[in-house]
Amino acid sequence: MINLRLRNVKNAKEIIASCEFVIKNREGLKGKYNTLFGNDHPIHIEIGMGKGKFLIEMAKQYPLVNFIGIEKYESILVRAVQKLQEEPLPNIRLLCVDALGLKDIFYKEISCIYLNFSDPWPKMRHARRRLTSPTFLEIYEDLFVSELLGGEKRIVQKTDNLILFASSLKNLNNAGYFFEEVSLDLANTSIPNVETEYEMKFKKQGMKINYINAVKK
Ligand SMILES: C[S@@+](CC[C@H](N)C(=O)[O-])C[C@H]1O[C@@H](n2cnc3c(N)ncnc32)[C@H](O)[C@@H]1O
Repeated sequence: MINLRLRNVKNAKEIIASCEFVIKNREGLKGKYNTLFGNDHPIHIEIGMGKGKFLIEMAKQYPLVNFIGIEKYESILVRAVQKLQEEPLPNIRLLCVDALGLKDIFYKEISCIYLNFSDPWPKMRHARRRLTSPTFLEIYEDLFVSELLGGEKRIVQKTDNLILFASSLKNLNNAGYFFEEVSLDLANTSIPNVETEYEMKFKKQGMKINYINAVKK
């Protein structure tokens, strides 16, 4: 796993605090995130959005979808904030939280979760930390729009790491997901794709990208 070098942005806290796209007060929002956007368009989240390239390009390509980016660290989130300040988009919001807490934040309102180049945690003793471990899949269950309202649970993952990829296939299968698409070399498919920061680096190194689009109805 490579590290995208991050120089500290001066005043990151202040930049984030003054940004209208970052959700700071979550009171009363659980189950009602559509009120932030003023429409009933589906809400997709990206967990571990990094510097926001994927989220911002997706929001431009799909204006009828609302996107919420989840990032654990302010020092990283601030990069996406800076991009959005230069080019505001109505269908994006950002949250600086750990994905472990998502059950307290959303309730039956998410249609799709993107997991792009999530930390692979390759050691067995850390497997629970993977964002497709049974622990996280259980957290996601309550986030998705109810099946009674015609909702489906969709998780889309891209990763360079075969240990994470294999464990995702196993865990998603055990949790009742079906695979609409699986690829060991995303670039050699016709699957529509928006590249992330990490993906661009890996592709430059000639690495193949593994892809899963899993759904539970
Ligand atoms: C390897 S980077 C990938 C960034 C981006 N998705 C990309 O493809 O360029 C993983 C990102 O996930 C974030 N992250 C890791 N664990 C997280 C968690 N539990 N909750 C929220 N974000 C997390 C990290 O801070 C980091 O920005």
